[in-house]
Amino acid sequence: MTHITFIEPSGQEVTVTITDGWSLMQGATSQGVDGIVAECGGSCACATCHCYVDEARLAELPPPSEAELAMLENVAAERRPNSRLSCQIKAAPALEGLRVTLPDTQE
Ligand code: FES
Repeated sequence: MTHITFIEPSGQEVTVTITDGWSLMQGATSQGVDGIVAECGGSCACATCHCYVDEARLAELPPPSEAELAMLENVAAERRPNSRLSCQIKAAPALEGLRVTLPDTQE
């Protein structure tokens, strides 16, 4: 189980516990975190699960796949160096305490 803190578009911080191996998107949407649409259900085909990962910990994450990088071209909000798709990041002990900011818009 990994604790991830999401900063919702409103600025509210919500910390959820996510089963290791589940994606951050799955963990957030199943626990009512606001700010992720996840239209495609996690198949890296919609870019509506866009998030900004804490820049200080970016290097701790497995790098994005080619498919994720391609889909990041389609995010609705500003794309930043720390932009990722939350459906492509799996909860794991190494990510304990990670802070993830959700953009103002996903569509
Ligand atoms: Fe569609 Fe992540 S949920 S790309």
